[in-house]
Amino acid sequence: MASNYELTHDITGIDWWRLADIMARAPLYDRKPFDLAMAFRNSYAVVFAHNDDKMVGAARATSDGVFYASIFDAVVAPEHQSCGVGRLMLEALIAKLPVERIFLTSVFGKEGFYEKLGFLRQTNAMGLYDELARGDAIARGVLTTHRTASSFGSENSPA
Ligand SMILES: CC(C)(COP(=O)(O)OP(=O)(O)OC[C@H]1O[C@@H](n2cnc3c(N)ncnc32)[C@H](O)[C@@H]1OP(=O)(O)O)[C@@H](O)C(=O)NCCC(=O)NCCS
Repeated sequence: MASNYELTHDITGIDWWRLADIMARAPLYDRKPFDLAMAFRNSYAVVFAHNDDKMVGAARATSDGVFYASIFDAVVAPEHQSCGVGRLMLEALIAKLPVERIFLTSVFGKEGFYEKLGFLRQTNAMGLYDELARGDAIARGVLTTHRTASSFGSENSPA
């Protein structure tokens, strides 16, 4: 039940080794605790979910605070997934983003989670990845050199 979970929005006292472990087990990414600490510290807004004083989930957003924000690293420990924690965290994070547009990329198969939060699929998204991430993303079908539906939109129309 979502009411068993408490949210915080401060990185003070966060156990980055625990978050790295949650991410690896979720599964989402294998991330180094130091890199996670830097990424969350440099974010515009962060959210952590706790159960019995133990962190069980997190998410973060970068933003210019006016027009755009992007959400990253939404993750819930596997033993707490499907209990409403993800929704609780994301709704609280989105409430901290006073912007016109919020972007994210979804893990394949998780799009429905974001659709429940009101996100629509975006046909004109583009990504510039570093060489290592790019090869992996192309192999997984995340990036493509093929033309997509956005190629057929009207020219010069705003994003
Ligand atoms: C994706 C994730 C963050 C969702 O968190 P969660 O706590 O398990 O999800 P919730 O229980 O809050 O689900 C909220 C709603 O989304 C729905 N939902 C969750 N996952 C879904 C999915 N894969 N497809 C469709 N709907 C989904 C739930 O049924 C629920 O619907 P309801 O509110 O109508 O009952 C979590 O499962 C997770 O950490 N997964 C592994 C890491 C990952 O893939 N992260 C996403 C990065 S893009």
